[in-house]
Amino acid sequence: MKPVTITTLLAMKRAGEKITSLTAYDYSFAHLLDKAGIDVIIVGDSLGMVLQGHENTLPVSVDDMVYHSRCVARGCTRAFIVVDLPFMSYESGREQALSNAGRLLKEGRAHMVKLEGGRTMVDTVRFLTERGIPVCGHVGLTPQLVHQLGGFRVQGRDSQAAARIREDAQALQDAGASLLVLESMPVGLAEKISRDLAIPTIGIGAGPACDGQVLVLQDLLGIYPRPTPKFAKNFMHGADSIQTAIEAYAKAVRAGTFPGPEHSFAD
Ligand code: KIV
Repeated sequence: MKPVTITTLLAMKRAGEKITSLTAYDYSFAHLLDKAGIDVIIVGDSLGMVLQGHENTLPVSVDDMVYHSRCVARGCTRAFIVVDLPFMSYESGREQALSNAGRLLKEGRAHMVKLEGGRTMVDTVRFLTERGIPVCGHVGLTPQLVHQLGGFRVQGRDSQAAARIREDAQALQDAGASLLVLESMPVGLAEKISRDLAIPTIGIGAGPACDGQVLVLQDLLGIYPRPTPKFAKNFMHGADSIQTAIEAYAKAVRAGTFPGPEHSFAD
């Protein structure tokens, strides 16, 4: 099977084909996901919570991300690999962002880096993309700002907040981002952003109208011991193996049956 590239993802959006995505942090799971035809593997800083057991993603280091990215890359022949820049590895300036993003691509074998934030990140996104680093944006609930947001809360509920998120999404695309994660926002807002933008959107807790969907793998497997968000679905229910559960997830995303209303936030 041909490797997935940003061109593949753009063509999928244009054709109305849903993009499947999951997180992974190691070789064996990455191999399983790759074999199941998952298009995009996100090596998320969620690893700070689901692998390392922290309360949030803030303690994760660039070295952690490089290590897990390299493990994932060894398991993949087809999937497109997006790797998070962790908290405080890009905020102090574009040179810091370039140097850490470069490590994720050179040492971690990432295909693209992801960073959180809207208009405040425009300058950084432009700087990275003009220097050959593909960037995925991340708006809505940005978990690295958990303390500023007052918890892991749905974003964009009132019209002013929704308008700001739409503007942020547009600004990131204009700065050169070629993929955008939309997290924890009302269905209608994510639908408008996905329609407005030329680049693909990948939703998590953002309803079914996004161009693709992502879940944290441990949530799909139902093995995270702490409370999980409303949008998480345990696909091991009714599945006889991890492989079957991953395939059921991919099938439901492609068919547009996941996420349903019970896994989404109404307007
Ligand atoms: O950290 C993460 O795993 C993520 C994805 C859920 C998008 O940001």
